[in-house]
Amino acid sequence: MIPFSRITGTGSYLPPRRVTNEDLAKDLAARGIETSDEWIVARTGIHARHFADADVTSSDLAFAAAKQAIEAAGRSASDIDLIVVATSTPDMVFPSSACILQNKLGIAGCPAFDVQAVCSGFVYALTVADAMIRTGMAKCALVVGAEVFSRILDFTDRTTCVLFGDGAGAVVLEASDEPGILASDLHADGKHVGILCVPGHVSGGNVIGSPLLHMDGQAVFKLAVRVLEEAARATLQKAGKSDTDIDWLIPHQANIRIMEGTAKKLKLPLEKLIVTVNEHGNTSAASIPLALDVAVRSGKIRPGDLVMLEGVGGGFAWGAVLLNM
Ligand code: ACO
Repeated sequence: MIPFSRITGTGSYLPPRRVTNEDLAKDLAARGIETSDEWIVARTGIHARHFADADVTSSDLAFAAAKQAIEAAGRSASDIDLIVVATSTPDMVFPSSACILQNKLGIAGCPAFDVQAVCSGFVYALTVADAMIRTGMAKCALVVGAEVFSRILDFTDRTTCVLFGDGAGAVVLEASDEPGILASDLHADGKHVGILCVPGHVSGGNVIGSPLLHMDGQAVFKLAVRVLEEAARATLQKAGKSDTDIDWLIPHQANIRIMEGTAKKLKLPLEKLIVTVNEHGNTSAASIPLALDVAVRSGKIRPGDLVMLEGVGGGFAWGAVLLNM
């Protein structure tokens, strides 16, 4: 049995079209909807987000992020023996975006599948890949979070369309004798399906129900802060660590108030909180690996640091992964 899996490379990609709050407010004003930079910044911490062009898919973003992560790990695509993509905005109903990504990488044969756990997708995907590595089913996994959430936003609903963005982040996770991932803690509670969902589905060539995102923001807010603290504490306990051991906290980048609330509950100084929501908006399954890559490339997160990743979102699904970089 391989004792550990460890992240050996990170990568990310944002589509080039950066949309500031002022840009968005101007677009919405043309539709008779009022919002402002001031409101968005005060309630969410978001200043800008990136939107992909209409012909760009999640697997395109995933491909760009994956190439960077593979290069950072000093590997080539042919070394990858498992691909897990976390996404709620896949290229197609099927096959999976992971299979499409595999083909773009020019490789074949290794298992490839998507994980659908919305904003918790990356911590779910990382946990699955970790388990597969530790049971000997893979040695060098590519784990990606990739989203084009702009496709499922209702641009007549100012309470949701200002929150989200598009992007992708990726890691290479390899079998290792040195500790990398120390513990994970995953949960879901399906009774909360209705507070954050895209309820539509495809049937007989038609979309039945709404294909756009619906959210009860206050219900999400309350649940998110509570479960993020619980998941972090459970993960620390499993790993035999305490909150004071954490070097960096990377919560899902949904909203600065949720993120700072979580850091405070864990008694972490805000300097230990990695924040990219200001520039990326909420990129759902992509938000954690995007933030991780930004922090690694900026030199903030260094080899050996203890990092807590935390996801929460639709389902309701949530979880945490504690790892040494
Ligand atoms: N611009 C201007 N005014 C707005 C906007 C906007 N974009 N959106 C809502 N408002 C108005 C509302 O109409 C309301 O006006 P009223 O008082 O005249 O009725 C007022 O602002 C307050 O609205 P609330 O919905 O009560 O605002 P709230 O303080 O709850 O903030 C928010 C809304 C930011 C969505 C908040 O509930 C929140 O942070 N929720 C967490 C949800 C979240 O972050 N979701 C991300 C996805 S889920 C996830 O990833 C975990």
